[in-house]
Amino acid sequence: MAIHNKSHNNHALMSLNKMRKEESLKNKTSSDFEMPAEIKLLHSISDCGDFLKQLPDKSIQLICIDPPYNLELAGWDIYENYIEWASKWIDEAYRVLSDNGSMVIFGGIQFRDAKSGDLLDIIQYIRKNTKFKLVNTIIWHYKNGMSAHRFFANRHEEAIWLVKSNNYYFDLDSVRVPYSEEDLKVALRDKRLNPETTRKGKNPTNVWEIGRLNGNSKERVGHPTQKPVAIIERFIKALSYPGATVLDFFAGSGTVGRVCINEGRNCLMCDSDNKSLDYFAKHLSLMEELGQNTQYRKVENIQDFFEYNTKGDTANEKGTI
Ligand SMILES: C[S@@+](CC[C@H](N)C(=O)[O-])C[C@H]1O[C@@H](n2cnc3c(N)ncnc32)[C@H](O)[C@@H]1O
Repeated sequence: MAIHNKSHNNHALMSLNKMRKEESLKNKTSSDFEMPAEIKLLHSISDCGDFLKQLPDKSIQLICIDPPYNLELAGWDIYENYIEWASKWIDEAYRVLSDNGSMVIFGGIQFRDAKSGDLLDIIQYIRKNTKFKLVNTIIWHYKNGMSAHRFFANRHEEAIWLVKSNNYYFDLDSVRVPYSEEDLKVALRDKRLNPETTRKGKNPTNVWEIGRLNGNSKERVGHPTQKPVAIIERFIKALSYPGATVLDFFAGSGTVGRVCINEGRNCLMCDSDNKSLDYFAKHLSLMEELGQNTQYRKVENIQDFFEYNTKGDTANEKGTI
């Protein structure tokens, strides 16, 4: 059957183009993309369930979240039935993620009682009830942490990286770790390694040593569970491309938004606590102090973000993920 290239409403052609795009993204890196002239950012104060409901199917390239686990760390960290609550946003996340996209969920293994949740609960739900595939578990190892007397002092947290298909975008080159001069010489003599790849640096592996933010850290904006920029940066660079859309529906201080502005990604953030806006304003002033770009277009609602037209085409069909 011939497919006529008459209009963007031709669904057969649209899905063919989408398939080609997904397949081709698999082999691309950030150097194949131009930095967008303008970065869009929406920061909504709302419940994640209400926010997610409004997002079009497959409209997001990367979801990067650090959810609450019922540990009663703050007022927002208390739920009656943890996994019943979490299952709702996990299912919605699957729906809004593009077929070549990725989802990162931070967490730890910390079950205390029937009420508290942890990453194990989330993995178990995902494994039994969704089609997500687990690519990596990343161990975030930090040397600075709390002391302990009745157990071994904790020095790691985890993050899981999930995908919907094997066509996921992954730009390893953008996050390689440079060799020291001496190690590079040794590596270049190793016949098993490709010298061209070796010169680009090492694979950072799935154990990342990055310091935790201390109380007096310059990066701190006041959020009790703020993540270091360096961790978020590695995920955003490796799992999304310039101009892609990144979503964090437990935004907290907005570390994900901060990195998106710096790295040229569009960003959707949501948090139920309106203090999130003040924390984010602090991130922006810290960026200014560092001489980083803080220019972005502030978008007020999801329709404007995806620039729906009157026919109701979704962002995905218009190729803006
Ligand atoms: C662990 S913190 C995220 C911290 C963030 N990664 C950062 O670097 O600042 C989790 C956040 O989820 C928010 N939250 C809790 N329940 C929520 C819900 N139902 N909808 C949206 N946000 C929620 C909390 O207000 C809190 O800021």
